Amino acid sequence: MKELYVNVDHIATLREARKTFEPSPLALVKLLEDTAVAGITTHLREDRRHIQDYDIYELSQYLGNSRLGFAFEMAASKDIRAIALRTSADICTIVPENRNEVTTEGGLDVIAQAEYLKEFIKPILDSGKKVSFFIEPALDQIVMAQSVGANYIEIHTGRFTNLHKFHSLRTSDVERDAAANLLKIEYEHIKQAVIYARGHHLKVNMGHGLTLDNLPDIAKIDNVDQYHIGHSIISTALIHGIKNASAEFINTLNKVAQEA
Ligand code: PXP
Repeated sequence: MKELYVNVDHIATLREARKTFEPSPLALVKLLEDTAVAGITTHLREDRRHIQDYDIYELSQYLGNSRLGFAFEMAASKDIRAIALRTSADICTIVPENRNEVTTEGGLDVIAQAEYLKEFIKPILDSGKKVSFFIEPALDQIVMAQSVGANYIEIHTGRFTNLHKFHSLRTSDVERDAAANLLKIEYEHIKQAVIYARGHHLKVNMGHGLTLDNLPDIAKIDNVDQYHIGHSIISTALIHGIKNASAEFINTLNKVAQEA
């Protein structure tokens, strides 16, 4: 079964834009309880730009008693690990983090930090949680992820999804052909990475930049467990919800007008 994990970070991004109480990630997570969504993903960044510590506390309490899985994305930082270990997360996904990035750019370099990562993930594994490394679809990184002790890899689909967008935006035939070739190459890299990781006894997840436009191609690749999708689901939810939300405000205005 292909499992969808909804990343709720951007619910907090919207809330933090006003430093207020809405929208609440927990309130939206509760709405997903009786859907086919398999789990919730969230990234407690070191700069706390969206999800806050109290979100993690609330989500952890709720998800600990829920059928929904809980994936906790984190930098390989000991402070964040201490928080992760106090949560009900089932899986900790180690991601690279850079203060100036707009979103997670590029995969984790497991080869460059192999010794550190091996020690770093030990307490997480000892606590019974699974560990995933967010990496590019590169075979040498996959071998190292296995030897360091990860249970999963999450393939960073960002290069593929950017090329997909670029391809659909190109106007000239030459540009379109060039983009199509690069897209095909990246798609093959992802397919090979999945086969290779499976051969190394790793489970495989995917994420980054997935949308309703590019997901059909990615979903054709077999042997993927989880899809971690955030920005485009939250964007789609806004499109689907705007009519109902406006109607509720109009009803309130009309009710007051009738009572006056
Ligand atoms: N997976 C990982 C490891 C991520 O860092 C992110 C971005 O926070 C996602 C998935 C979701 O990406 P997007 O918001 O583009 O769907």
